Amino acid sequence: MCLGNICRSPTAEGVLRQMLKQQAPELQVEVDSAGTADYHIGDPPDTRSRRAALRHGIDLSALRGRQVVPQDFARFDLILAMDRANLRELRAMQPKGSQARLQLFLEYAPELQESEVPDPYYGDAGGFEKVLDLCAAASRGLIAVLQEVA
Ligand code: 4NP
Repeated sequence: MCLGNICRSPTAEGVLRQMLKQQAPELQVEVDSAGTADYHIGDPPDTRSRRAALRHGIDLSALRGRQVVPQDFARFDLILAMDRANLRELRAMQPKGSQARLQLFLEYAPELQESEVPDPYYGDAGGFEKVLDLCAAASRGLIAVLQEVA
């Protein structure tokens, strides 16, 4: 989950899907992404995110922005936020009785200095590469945890 669902969370979705397919095909995990804001509903991922992902062999072009809906808190066991602002937003939206676990995505990459995936939208291309690297590190950690509990 991020703000617009056109930069960080689609990148995370693409990276995690690819790593699951290549490194943990035994895990049955449903992966999706969404934004807390409504600015980019129906939009494909940002060109700069698509380009950065393609350099790593990941095609994000079929993804479309969507906003978080209350049903997401029943459909998913684990909801991962890219930064604290989005985590706060998600906690405020979580319906009473929902068992979904809400965390920062980078909690799965404790070896990193960063605890949030920075919003690359107003920055340069380097920011988009950084998002990719952070998503890869957290996806690796998440897959290791899922393999342990599977
Ligand atoms: P994202 O990036 O939350 O990673 O998808 C953003 C995309 C759009 C905007 C902000 C952040 N925006 O302000 O439109």
